[in-house]
Amino acid sequence: MTFSDDLKFIANKVDKLLEERFKVPNSPESRLVNAMRYSSIGSGKKIRPYIVFASSSIFDVPLNQSVLVGASIEMVHTFSLIHDDLPCMDNDEIRRGKPSLHIEFDEATATLAGNSLLIEAFKLLTSNIINEEAKIRIRLIDRLSEVSGYRGMCGGQMIDLLSQSNNFEKSEILRINSMKTAAILSFCCEAGGILGGASNYECNALKDFGLDIGLAFQIIDDILDVEGEEKKIGKKVNKDIDLGKKNLVSNYGLKFSKNEAKKLIDQANKNLECVFGVKSEKLQSLAKFIILRDR
Ligand code: IPE
Ligand code: IPE
Ligand code: MG
Ligand code: MG
Ligand code: MG
Repeated sequence: MTFSDDLKFIANKVDKLLEERFKVPNSPESRLVNAMRYSSIGSGKKIRPYIVFASSSIFDVPLNQSVLVGASIEMVHTFSLIHDDLPCMDNDEIRRGKPSLHIEFDEATATLAGNSLLIEAFKLLTSNIINEEAKIRIRLIDRLSEVSGYRGMCGGQMIDLLSQSNNFEKSEILRINSMKTAAILSFCCEAGGILGGASNYECNALKDFGLDIGLAFQIIDDILDVEGEEKKIGKKVNKDIDLGKKNLVSNYGLKFSKNEAKKLIDQANKNLECVFGVKSEKLQSLAKFIILRDR
């Protein structure tokens, strides 16, 4: 299967799981469940679940296990996007090719839908279908907490907001990127190792690969904000400059940023190949997609 077939396959699996999980109740809180469904089902690239699937494939982890973990991370990611779009954060009116959740519904509902998706993510990780050993599930929950909260994504989002009123150097920008974006991508890579009983050495190799591709992923996101097409990326362009965000593109320009992203991807694939050889093919295709993507 090609990378794009695999990605579609995994996106469908995750959509199906979310459909089953978020049944709309026949009661007033159905508004909240409908909001969660609006943001999470049938849109978004579902790159994070793909990464969990790809890293799991190195260790022959059963598909149903990696899809559950991928869906859980996708819930955290979708929460982060819903809140990122709120007027108090990036104030974005288009997301995943349609009106942002707070536009389609309202700010209060969007806030609650984000919270509920985040909480559901951890509930999903308690499922013994993921692994019969509670120790493995606790390790996944522990790592997802670490990369999502103040030590990771939320912390990075905080500094990203502060960047609007401060001047940041390259090292500080890289720290924003590694916290707000690369931490979760790194965990997606590590998750396959945790599920597959990988050694510490192998888990560390997966985490390092995830950090490299995660940094590149955010650099490309910042490039697409300038060079991308609204139709393809499913969100408004030129938002970062308007908001005064500091990132590699705003500080050092497109050429420099493209070169940095390429170096990170080349380094990531080279290192991964050394540890896992051909078994890392799916992760390497993902890395190549990241650098070439237009959406
Ligand atoms: C966008 O993530 C936000 C970043 C962390 C850069 P994606 O580009 O993966 O967005 P979706 O999930 O496909 O909508
Ligand atoms: C957001 O970065 C990263 C998250 C953790 C949500 P951006 O603010 O650049 O993401 P987009 O461009 O709105 O998707
Ligand atoms: Mg943002
Ligand atoms: Mg944003
Ligand atoms: Mg962006």
